Amino acid sequence: MELVQDTCRPPLKYVKGVPLIKYFAEALGPLQSFQALPDDLLISTYPKSGTTWVSQILDMIYQGGNLDKCHRAPIYIRVPFLEFKAPGFPTGLETLKESPAPRLIKTHLPLSLLPQTLLDQKTKVVYVARNAKDVAVSYYHFYCMAKVHPDPGTWDSFVEKFMAGEVSYGSWYQHVREWWELRHTHPVLYLFYEDMKENPKREIQKILEFVGHSLPEKIVDHIVHHTSFEEMKKNPMTNYTTISSDIMDHAVSPFMRKGKAGDWKTLFTVAQNEQFDADYAQKMAGCDLSFCS
Ligand code: A3P
Repeated sequence: MELVQDTCRPPLKYVKGVPLIKYFAEALGPLQSFQALPDDLLISTYPKSGTTWVSQILDMIYQGGNLDKCHRAPIYIRVPFLEFKAPGFPTGLETLKESPAPRLIKTHLPLSLLPQTLLDQKTKVVYVARNAKDVAVSYYHFYCMAKVHPDPGTWDSFVEKFMAGEVSYGSWYQHVREWWELRHTHPVLYLFYEDMKENPKREIQKILEFVGHSLPEKIVDHIVHHTSFEEMKKNPMTNYTTISSDIMDHAVSPFMRKGKAGDWKTLFTVAQNEQFDADYAQKMAGCDLSFCS
């Protein structure tokens, strides 16, 4: 049996050309047996794009805005993480087997690794995208604190790896593009982190419509309040402080770190920004996705 100290910074493992956290790569085989249910809802994101935020919003919607019900368990139990695996924890698949329908399911997988059942069943998808520079900065801090990742090295070297798609889950550029294209053939609500920051109520109303729920305005306002960064940062059911510091060390960087749009400006140098923009223009050429960064 693997011990918690064995979780410390194993190298990424490539599956079909996609680098993944070693344990998550190992979870993909058993995931072949996963069967989507007709009322499942998939939350898909590239890491650090607002997954926890939209997960809490959706659980609050499913619980009719009842915060006490949302305190029943940490977010990673209420919204099982499909490809999750780590020593000493139930896998995402095991957690899902215990979850009552209708289920909310989280994934960061690119389409090439997504279990086919989710596509065959036309499972509704809420996708959240965040601008690449803020994702890179947030991911760097997350690599530093979450020890299932390899050592991030310096920010300089990490941003190079991010641009090259040599971080867990591979290329951000490919991820945001392929899920954007999927919406032509599949029920996908494609949201942006920056829009959620600008007007959370408007974006929550889009989610309500997409999932076919309606709630009184007072309850929607209550959800807006309890899913704000400040509220989620102090809520142990959303801030990941229930995970042992052997795995996530909040003293290095809290999971709920800054929750801002545009924080990349504090870390990118002018030269890095120019290089990133030039590379971005090439990788996103021909794509009609536009981000506010
Ligand atoms: P920062 O590191 O920039 O602060 P994910 O859940 O996909 O891992 O994304 C984590 C990022 O979303 C972190 O970004 C975190 O602070 C931010 N976040 C989480 N909840 C949020 C909220 N309610 N409002 C705004 N940002 C939030």
